Amino acid sequence: MIDLIDGTAVQKPLADTFRRPITYLRISVTDRCNLRCTYCMPEAGLPWIPKSDILAYEEIEAIVAAAASVGVRSIRLTGGEPLVRRDLPELVCRLAAIPGIDDIALSTNGLLLADAARALAAAGLRRVNVSLDTLRSERFEAIARRPGLERVLAGIDAALAAGLGPLKLNCVLMRGQNDDELADFAALAYDRALYVRFIEVMPVHENVGMQTDAYVSSDEILERLGAVARLEAVSGPGGNGPARYFAAPGAHGAVGVISPLSHDYCDRCNRVRLSADGRLRLCLFGDYEIDLRGPLRAGASQADIARLFGAGMLIKPERHHLELGIPSSRMRAFSEIGG
Ligand code: 5AD
Ligand code: SF4
Repeated sequence: MIDLIDGTAVQKPLADTFRRPITYLRISVTDRCNLRCTYCMPEAGLPWIPKSDILAYEEIEAIVAAAASVGVRSIRLTGGEPLVRRDLPELVCRLAAIPGIDDIALSTNGLLLADAARALAAAGLRRVNVSLDTLRSERFEAIARRPGLERVLAGIDAALAAGLGPLKLNCVLMRGQNDDELADFAALAYDRALYVRFIEVMPVHENVGMQTDAYVSSDEILERLGAVARLEAVSGPGGNGPARYFAAPGAHGAVGVISPLSHDYCDRCNRVRLSADGRLRLCLFGDYEIDLRGPLRAGASQADIARLFGAGMLIKPERHHLELGIPSSRMRAFSEIGG
């Protein structure tokens, strides 16, 4: 992990045992959320992580500084819903000041975005992804179990006005629930510089009852989109993601698909995750994780934490093994580790 050149310690950039460079860290800043999407969490919420176990901003900052010292360059803040955590722009500001970190993005459900967009941009946030599964307000309330479509749409406008683009929308497409809105979403991406990504619904503990019925493969999504628009493969807006993009000639934005089940993108994986309570998660699924909070609170140095990132490389698995209707053993919902 550490080489000596002229007597000076030089940390090698992270790469796992499958030679994948790891440059991207997704950080869940809270497991709490102000929505209750049916595919994600139960109506009553989850057994939330106790506040004292949640990493403080200084602790996240220390971990990101260590990660940057071994080659992490991009950060994404996720939740739960990251904007329910107080003073998020303060965290963005701290992370933006860390040498080596050159891209900070946010994934949000958009409910609180209208008020926060300007402060986030001023703090150094570059881009946002907004979750949006429907363009119809009564459906929004059925899927998210709470109202809010108008606020999310206002949040999208505010983010664009604050320069937080290119703006990506994440739509979990579900048969019988919102799959008849494909053309409406495609129209949205035609008229504005929006990148709409349709995500295959993934199995977690909370959605075992419905995931198999709701699942629509990205091949089917593309086939159905092809019937309503003349789509060509395009390169997309950039970023760290696994989406494949398509656009009709003349479109300002594009549609994309993210296919965790049907075409996993593990061979191009560039990422690890940090849970809100300080576990370094090496894969979205499975139990591959290393606790960073304990060592940090016991006085670990930046080099110690960087070495734990190095240790993580040894246990990062080659791929996830997701199957329809079979949730990961440990994880109840993505909000535990940041969607
Ligand atoms: N399947 C697919 N995506 C999910 N997300 C959360 N739960 C799931 C799931 N079961 C993603 C969605 C959502 C974001 C918060 O996390 O993109 O918009
Ligand atoms: Fe909240 Fe996102 Fe889960 Fe919906 S999917 S309940 S917005 S964390």
